[in-house]
Amino acid sequence: MSDPADITAQLARLTDAFTAAYGRPPTHAAVAPGRVNLIGEHTDYNDGFVLPMAIQRQTVIVAARSDRPAARVRSTGAEGEAEFALDGQMAPGEPAWANYVKGAVHGCLQRGLDPGAFDAVLDSTVPAGGGLSSSASIEVATATLIEALSDQRLDPVDKALLAQKAEHDFAGVPCGIMDQFISAMGREGSALLIDCRSHQTRPVPLSDESIVVLIANSNCKHELTGGEYAERRAQCEAAAERLGVSVLRDATMPQLDAVKDRLDDMSYRRARHVISENQRTLDAADAMAAGDWATVGSLMFASHDSLRDDFEVSTPELDQLVELAATRCPDGGVIGSRMTGGGFGGCTVSLVRADAADEVAAALGAGYAKAVGIQPTIFATRPAAGARALTLP
Ligand code: GLA
Repeated sequence: MSDPADITAQLARLTDAFTAAYGRPPTHAAVAPGRVNLIGEHTDYNDGFVLPMAIQRQTVIVAARSDRPAARVRSTGAEGEAEFALDGQMAPGEPAWANYVKGAVHGCLQRGLDPGAFDAVLDSTVPAGGGLSSSASIEVATATLIEALSDQRLDPVDKALLAQKAEHDFAGVPCGIMDQFISAMGREGSALLIDCRSHQTRPVPLSDESIVVLIANSNCKHELTGGEYAERRAQCEAAAERLGVSVLRDATMPQLDAVKDRLDDMSYRRARHVISENQRTLDAADAMAAGDWATVGSLMFASHDSLRDDFEVSTPELDQLVELAATRCPDGGVIGSRMTGGGFGGCTVSLVRADAADEVAAALGAGYAKAVGIQPTIFATRPAAGARALTLP
């Protein structure tokens, strides 16, 4: 099987697929990565802090202009073709995967970019539904392709915002800004501390060769349109209102404890997660920058506990993966581990000593398969670069 991190091979495959589909070679190409969040979960839509990094799994999209009145898009990984007029009247429809593309094109048109009619084919090595932002990578890759086709540039923050709006309006998921932001602005060798209120960022280097980021996919589907995500957002807004702040970013632990008697238990726990997670994220960024891995690791485990007990977005399968990792901390090579992304399935992220990574991956795989009866998919990644246009050979 080909290496899912190899963008050059992916581009070559995609060039062949495009030529087979549309009878001429592509002229433009763009790439955008998926992401893993190291810490700072369910904080982005509370105007808080997140610490994600782009991963070595990505969506590549290629295109060529056409003289038809509409755009056509295909995917190597799914059936069907979407055809839509570039008149700003686009609406979500079938095939469902194309809605991410349409939403991003729509956002670009609204900002005055003029790509002209085109045919496009996309290919993604970000596992769909795995909580690694496969949809954000399609949206951001599409917007980057439209920049190339129209020879106009978007401000990267604006590009992330239009991609987020695509997710809201064309996929029905009221997500925060984290996924699209890191896919657009990831940095090779660094995680990014993002202030989701000011959109300011601080790169946090993660280039220490002795540390590996291990992602374990529970292979239990992660589906954010199920309503739980929107429900958590609403619960946070309600808790903020009870606390007398406009968003939970502005609440402190003493403030929360002062109103504890007047809050129901669930609202209290939801708010406690967000307030404590913001602090853990800032602390983890500082500890990472200082190479204080023991502190980073304990903050990751604390984040998982809070997501499981207070925010209630973990699953028994994710808990199992984190517990297996914890049994190897610290001397078996595990530094820290937690669920990552929206929850309700998907992946865990672990920081692991490079010299123990293979052993840890094997132990997680065997232990999880034995306990759950499902084989997890485990891979190591380094922080990757964000979206960019690619040169075709
Ligand atoms: C999903 C959303 C993000 C973020 C995370 C939870 O990935 O798309 O905006 O809210 O869940 O941290």
